[in-house]
Amino acid sequence: MPTQKNSQESFIKKTIYLKKTDSTNAFAKKHDFTENTLIIADCQTSGKGRTGKVWVSPAGSGIYMSFVLFPQVNVNEIMQFTLICGMAVCEALSAICGENFRIKWPNDIVFGGKKVCGILTECVCAGEKVKKCISGVGINVNTTDFPDEIKDIATSLSEICGKNFSREEIIRKITDIFEKYYILLVYKKDIKKIIEKYKSLCINIGKKVSANGTQTFFGTATDISEKGELVITDENGIKFFVNSGEVSLRGENGYV
Ligand code: BTN
Repeated sequence: MPTQKNSQESFIKKTIYLKKTDSTNAFAKKHDFTENTLIIADCQTSGKGRTGKVWVSPAGSGIYMSFVLFPQVNVNEIMQFTLICGMAVCEALSAICGENFRIKWPNDIVFGGKKVCGILTECVCAGEKVKKCISGVGINVNTTDFPDEIKDIATSLSEICGKNFSREEIIRKITDIFEKYYILLVYKKDIKKIIEKYKSLCINIGKKVSANGTQTFFGTATDISEKGELVITDENGIKFFVNSGEVSLRGENGYV
C-alpha cells in the first residue's frame, strides 16, 4: 500500500505538461513515474478511446490527461478506479458548470443525451497484480466542431453552457474530488459508499439496456457490483454481471 498521504502535501505529487504527444495514456505507460503523477497534454495525435476507438484531441480546446497511480490491487479490482475517476469528473463538471452531469456506465460523462467526457483506464500488470494504473480523461471543454461521425452524440461544456471555461480550473476541481474518492477507496476501503454514490449518478440504473460484448444481454440495469460490473437482470430474474472491457450499451434513446 502507498504511504498515507500527509495532509500538508498535495495528492498529485508531480504534474507533467506536454504541448503535444501521441496519447497521454501511451506516454504514461512508456515512462517511469513516481506515485500520483498527472500527465496533461494540449493536444494528442493518437488519442485512444475505449474498444479501439480514436479520441479526437485538437489543441487548445479540450482536456487530455492521465493519472498515473500505483494502488496495490489485483487486476480484477481495477474497474473501481474507473468508477471513482468518472465520479470525480462528473461532480467537478456539475460544480463548475452548474448543470447536472451524469455517468453512462461505466464512465462516459453525459449531458442531455450526449457525451462530453470519456475515460480510459489501462494498467501494467505482473500476473494478477497491478504494477501501474493509468486513468486517462478526455473532456470536450471549449470544442465547437466535431467530426461528422460523432457530431450527433458528442457535446462540449461550451456548447452546453454558451461560454468558454478555464481548463486549469476544471483540472484542479477534478483532482481535488478524485483525491477524496481515492482516499475512500484505497485507504478507507469504503467501496459500499463509492458504489452508492456512483449509482446515484449513473443514468442506466433502472433502465432497459442491452449489453453487446462477446455475448448480448438484454434486461434492466439493476445494480453495480462491488467490482464495478453492471448488473443486468433479465425478465426471468436472472442476473448477469457485465464487465466494461467487452460491452457497449444501448438504451431506449439512441446513444444513452
Ligand atoms: C472513451 O470514451 O472511449 C475513452 C476516451 C479517453 C480519452 C482520454 S484523452 C487522455 C487519455 N489519453 C488517451 O489516449 N486517451 C485518454
